[in-house]
Amino acid sequence: MRPLLVAPSILASDFAKLGEEVRAVDSAGADWIHLDVMDGHFVPNISFGPAAIAAMRPHSKKTFDTHLMIAPCDPYLEAFAKAGSDTITVHVESGPHVHRSLQAIRALGKKAGVTLNPGTPVEAIENVIDLVDLILVMSVNPGFGGQAFIKSQVDKIARARALAGGRPIDIEVDGGITPDNAASVARAGANVLVAGSAVFKGGPDAYRANIAAIRNAAAIARGEAA
Ligand code: DX5
Ligand code: ZN
Repeated sequence: MRPLLVAPSILASDFAKLGEEVRAVDSAGADWIHLDVMDGHFVPNISFGPAAIAAMRPHSKKTFDTHLMIAPCDPYLEAFAKAGSDTITVHVESGPHVHRSLQAIRALGKKAGVTLNPGTPVEAIENVIDLVDLILVMSVNPGFGGQAFIKSQVDKIARARALAGGRPIDIEVDGGITPDNAASVARAGANVLVAGSAVFKGGPDAYRANIAAIRNAAAIARGEAA
């Protein structure tokens, strides 16, 4: 079983204090820092780009997990690698050449992730499975934090886990994750849980308890905690 990881999404943080927010979730127990990049074209919202990620980089040694919701993505992969991303995840729907994008990410020396919108079947990534280190199952339509978890994606997590087989591939889930649904996604096979609103609600004093609540619910489902 892959290790259980909680990845707070900086999208839900206070953008006026990005460095401080990264340090706060790092010291509150985050395993990875999830960075949502939106272009106002592939998704109907704009967030931040490589310069903001580079500015956050010195504030944590944890894995920077960059989720690109941009099209095209290929012209920007190098910039996101240089900004300090450890994993770069691209949408299978973002262009006709996802195979090339994944090859390019690995050629930059980074872990390659591929993600699927809620309406896209797991079969869409069958032919690139040997190029991926991470499969991200979107449990909301990408573009905004704070949306409701789409339950039908639990089955997709199980199908992604089955497709990964014995390969060293992380299965990540992103969108509407709370302590209430963490068990069901962990049971289905997700080992990386992204959470924005559920981590950042209540301000810095609450981050530690918020992260722990998600982790504990998932750990119980995995038989790792009581
Ligand atoms: C959605 C983003 C998510 C989002 C998660 O487009 O990819 O990472 O910020 O936020 P919550 O946990 O609030 O759904
Ligand atoms: Zn994301």
